[in-house]
Amino acid sequence: MTINVEKSNLTTANYAIKRIHKPTIEEFKQATDSFSQPVIITGKLEEWKAFDSWSIDYLNKVIGDKELDINVSNKNKVFTFDSETGETLSSTKMKFTEFTNWLTQEKNSEQYYYLQQQSIKLVFPELLPDIEIPNYISQKSFMVANIWIGTGGNTTPLHWDAAQNILCQVRGRKRLLLFAPNQTEYLYPHSVDSKAPHLSYVNIDKPDFDKFPKFKQAQSIECVLEAGEMLFMPPFWWHQVYSLDQLNIAVNFWWKAQLKDYFTPQARNFIVKKPLIVLALLLQKPSP
Ligand code: FUM
Ligand code: FE
Repeated sequence: MTINVEKSNLTTANYAIKRIHKPTIEEFKQATDSFSQPVIITGKLEEWKAFDSWSIDYLNKVIGDKELDINVSNKNKVFTFDSETGETLSSTKMKFTEFTNWLTQEKNSEQYYYLQQQSIKLVFPELLPDIEIPNYISQKSFMVANIWIGTGGNTTPLHWDAAQNILCQVRGRKRLLLFAPNQTEYLYPHSVDSKAPHLSYVNIDKPDFDKFPKFKQAQSIECVLEAGEMLFMPPFWWHQVYSLDQLNIAVNFWWKAQLKDYFTPQARNFIVKKPLIVLALLLQKPSP
C-alpha cells in the first residue's frame, strides 16, 4: 500500500532515524547518544504475546463490554487539545465492543474516534501479561504504559511530552513527523505560563505562513513506524502522529526525563520560569 504524503509545506532534515535490531542496553544508549536522539528498534516487539494475539476478536473477548472514554476528533480527524486546559477537546463514553464495531465498519462520517493514551494498568489490567516493559527503561524511572487503539486517518497534533517515550506499534502503521527541541523557535509554542505549553499554534498540515513565517525554517524528520517496531523519542521532541491502516494499535511507555533534558532549548524556559514543576516531574512516582 502506498502512503500519500503531503510534503510540500515541510522542510525535511537531511538525516533519517536509524533502525537498530534488538539492541542491548549499551547499544541502545550508544545509538540514542545517551537517550537524546530518536531511534527505531526492530525485532523486540515480535517477542510480545500481544504481537501474536491482539486481534479484534481477542480484545473483544478479553475486554468485552467495559465502558470507556473514547476521544472524538474534529471534522479533520485531528484529536485537538483545549489550549485552556491542555486536555483533549472532546470525548464520549462507549462500550469497548461498540467501539471495535465502529472500527471495523465502512466510515462515512468526518468525525473519528480514538481510544487514546489510556493507562493499561488502570483501564486494561487484563492486557498486562501480553506486553513487556522494554529493558532500556530503568525500574526507578518507569512511569506508565498506555494503549492507543484507532484507525487510519486519525491525527494526534504537534506536541511534546516531558518524558522519555517508546512508542510500540502492535498493529497497523503510524507516520510521524518529528522536530528536535532546537526547532522550537520556529514552531510557535504556547506560552510556558499557559496550561498547554506542549502545544504549537501551527497547523503543520496547512501552515499559515503569514502568521507563522518562521515555520518555513523548521526542519522535520519523518518516519513510518511499521507493526513490530518501536520508536524511542527523547523528551521535549515535538511530534505529530498520523495513524495508517484500518486497525491501529500501539502501546507507549513513558519514563522520567533526566535533569539534562531540561537544558534543551525547549525545556530550559521551564527551569527558569517553573522550577517547582520541573522538580515535581523529576521526583514523581510511577503513575497508574
Ligand atoms: O497517536 C499517537 O500514537 C500519539 C503518540 C504520542 O504522542 O506519543
Ligand atoms: Fe506524545
